[in-house]
Amino acid sequence: MKKISRETTLKEIFKTPVGHDILAKVLYSVGISSSLIEKTMFGNLKLGSLTKITLGKLNDSFIDELLTLLNSEKDVPTSGGEITRKWWKEAVIYQIYPRSFKDSDGDGIGDINGIIEKLDYLKDLGVDAIWCSPIYDSPNDDNGYDIRDYHKIMREFGSMEDFDRLLDEIHKRGMRLIMDLVFNHTSDEHEWFQDSVNNPNSEYRDYFIWRKGKGEGIPPNNWESIFSGSAWNYYPQRDEWALHLFSKKQMDLNWENLKVRNSLYDITNWWLEKGVDGFRLDVISFISKQDGLPDGHELIGTLMGFKGVEHYFYGPRLHEFLHEFRENSFGKYDAFTVGECQGTGIEMSRLMTEDVRGELDVVFSFDHIVNPGKTPYSDCSFDLRPMAKNLEEWQTQYGNHCWPTLFVENHDVPRMISKVDKTNRYKNEIAKLIATMLLTLKGTPFIYQGQEIGMTNCDFENVSELHDVQSLRFYKKLVKDSTKEDKAFRTVLNGTRDHARTPMQWDSSLNAGFTTGEPWIKVNPNYTSINAQLQETSKTSILNFYRELIKLRKSNPALIYGEFIRAHDSKNSFSYFRKLGDDTLFIEMNLTNRTVTRKSSTDKFKLLSSNYATTLKTKLRPYEANIYRCP
Ligand code: GLC
Repeated sequence: MKKISRETTLKEIFKTPVGHDILAKVLYSVGISSSLIEKTMFGNLKLGSLTKITLGKLNDSFIDELLTLLNSEKDVPTSGGEITRKWWKEAVIYQIYPRSFKDSDGDGIGDINGIIEKLDYLKDLGVDAIWCSPIYDSPNDDNGYDIRDYHKIMREFGSMEDFDRLLDEIHKRGMRLIMDLVFNHTSDEHEWFQDSVNNPNSEYRDYFIWRKGKGEGIPPNNWESIFSGSAWNYYPQRDEWALHLFSKKQMDLNWENLKVRNSLYDITNWWLEKGVDGFRLDVISFISKQDGLPDGHELIGTLMGFKGVEHYFYGPRLHEFLHEFRENSFGKYDAFTVGECQGTGIEMSRLMTEDVRGELDVVFSFDHIVNPGKTPYSDCSFDLRPMAKNLEEWQTQYGNHCWPTLFVENHDVPRMISKVDKTNRYKNEIAKLIATMLLTLKGTPFIYQGQEIGMTNCDFENVSELHDVQSLRFYKKLVKDSTKEDKAFRTVLNGTRDHARTPMQWDSSLNAGFTTGEPWIKVNPNYTSINAQLQETSKTSILNFYRELIKLRKSNPALIYGEFIRAHDSKNSFSYFRKLGDDTLFIEMNLTNRTVTRKSSTDKFKLLSSNYATTLKTKLRPYEANIYRCP
């Protein structure tokens, strides 16, 4: 690939994987379509001219940073070819956040035996595989994403015998288990880290990212933690600083060290030997850091929310590490992998997931779940239209060698129906529209626990009800920066991850049937009206809607492997065909809370599913979502 310079035009840059994703991201964040680059004069601008056009806002040093990043990638994705069929392309995956799923022993914390009790519920729903958030031994600074011992089960969750039984019971039901591996960092209580700090002769001395400070009390660089504050802790025992991109107790591993990598592959193989079927790889795109750990650029830091990110979100050895990881572990077992990749767009993700490259199977990318120009903490209603546009781009541009993931919720984000409509007026319609979207687009759908019954955000009343380390640190930062406490709480409440972590609402009994004890986190008081048991028997419930759509997807290969064809351009609705051989389905959705006119007739189509009792001839009501078979 030609070296990119200040003289290269935006159009040319847009043709490169990194250039494409960065420009698309910048334009998306200001609500502009990237077709502007391809189709208008704007594309002929030279990179260097951006400083002038933006009146110096994008300054020379910004362009320098950009150039380093743009020239860091030499490869380009391939295109064309047939889709290879795989079990995980046909699967519906359900995410369990074990702490909040089902408590079997009354200690107020969900556990493995609780999960086993509910496996039949998941099987009935139509789930093929379960992704379970971390269940390893952990001091729980970040609810298990800070692992102290990768070979041990967290005491509150049960024992290794319980785990073996869980795996067995999942397999007996014909389902699969996907574990969550956190390998960007370990807990500071992990023996590697403890030894690395305290033992000058430790074999783990170089297992973490240690650096000298820039002076007394001054960290090695200006990187900020994603959970607020500096990304460095000082340890007087070594008179050195250790990097933590997340909480102060989540210490980044040094992937440059081959011994570290081999230790991680050994852990992975140990779980594979037990028979687990795959892994969700936590923040895996952050594992390779730029040599020399240079200071982060101020402007990029302001745009992205934390300084330094350009030096590790798509680091120089990322592909090499991912490839090596696959070769040495999951590739040998044909295990499935989904990588959590924050900040990478379509083209960079293609380079991580194309089947020919032997890296990951699929990735989670997040642009679609935050509206352009907003942050997760913005006080606004979520607009489904840009999300649909973003998903459509993945449908049409990701290529047949790659496979998208489809999700709108997980344990890190508030509940989608509350984001869209704070009044809850259309909560059933929205929940079913989301189900329609996830189960009719191309890609592997991931359903987050409670999404299938339409769980909503929780009305936490004050900061003492919050538990999430990220929310609490952000709250402290806001208050420290002189935001009034009440305002700080309201801001945190918009985006707190705790919304997704309230206990699963099983029935109308005490604590939503989650625990007989004192729940570790507030139960959403709406559990008496939103719960799985109530929805079991209601034909029109969200739960039964999910069941029906999962069945529909499985009995219609066109919904899995069919080509995605956009029906027509419309600002407010999203309609498309899925076509495989002679079989064609048509899906239409109104993405707004207003009635809109249908763009083309569906008279000749046979209605298979709708989130309204009847359909109208020419109109789509608020959030209406229908699926038809075409003759
Ligand atoms: C991922 C997890 C999140 C965790 C973070 C650090 O984003 O999903 O819950 O806090 O990584 O491990």
